[in-house]
Amino acid sequence: MYIQQHELEQLKKLLRRLTSLDLSLYKDRFIKRRIAIRMNSLGFQSFYEYLEYVRRNPNEVYNLFDNLTINVSFFFRDPMVWSTTYRKVLKPLTEYKSSRRSRSIRIWSAGCARGEEPYSISILLHEALGSELGGFTITIFATDIDPKALEQAKKGEYTPQALDNVPRMWLRKYFVYDPVRGVYKIKSHVKRIVKFMLHDVVNDPPLSQIDIIFCRYLLIYLARDMQQKALMNFLKALREGGYLILGSAEFLPEEMHRYFEVIDLKARIYRKRTIGKYL
Ligand SMILES: C[S@@+](CC[C@H](N)C(=O)[O-])C[C@H]1O[C@@H](n2cnc3c(N)ncnc32)[C@H](O)[C@@H]1O
Repeated sequence: MYIQQHELEQLKKLLRRLTSLDLSLYKDRFIKRRIAIRMNSLGFQSFYEYLEYVRRNPNEVYNLFDNLTINVSFFFRDPMVWSTTYRKVLKPLTEYKSSRRSRSIRIWSAGCARGEEPYSISILLHEALGSELGGFTITIFATDIDPKALEQAKKGEYTPQALDNVPRMWLRKYFVYDPVRGVYKIKSHVKRIVKFMLHDVVNDPPLSQIDIIFCRYLLIYLARDMQQKALMNFLKALREGGYLILGSAEFLPEEMHRYFEVIDLKARIYRKRTIGKYL
């Protein structure tokens, strides 16, 4: 199904009039693909029929939004990235904080979907710090633009498929299995340090004094100038020497390399340079 550019612009205009949803965040190619999927599932042959349908059923906008915010995620997505993050980021960071007697660790999972990523971070921190964890003030800010995904994240219940990469030992240590419903529920000590919030990485003010930002599999969907805005927000949010971790399909654009050094290219781990050292 082919959607012409002027047709897409009409839909964008309609959405702007009906809601606060900002389609200009996303790549046109991506939006067209998602609209085609939505039209297909409703059985529409032409875009004009679909546009009429949206006009008559304004709630359709929210279904389309659900289609655009792809919440697919799982625990420890790309295991190699997580083992590298443990060795090259979490261990050095916690050791540095201990040596400085600095008791605060602030981590941001941006585009956290249903909580799989921030809870994975929490588990790794429990592993890295063990019984010393209680001596730190740790907050994992977990943000997303999709309120439904955040509601599910707060529940912290997962089907076994989302947990494929979780070692068996950790399943017992960090989850409780409910055999009746066939779901694993995350334990409260893992949840305690995760704070969920509605937040748009492009348009909302960034967080501050962050030690590590995980923003994985979000930037790929954004239009190029929106990616740039999000990355500038991340730069502001990070403290000097803070880390930025992107998804395996994402690269830091050339123009941002003056602000970040590469820690591990394969795992997409970057580190904010100290201001005096910007190239
Ligand atoms: C594919 S999921 C990635 C989840 C997780 N980070 C991972 O790597 O598995 C992308 C998430 O980004 C969210 N998202 C999309 N646009 C966003 C924006 N502008 N601000 C914040 N979150 C956004 C979506 O709602 C979705 O939950």
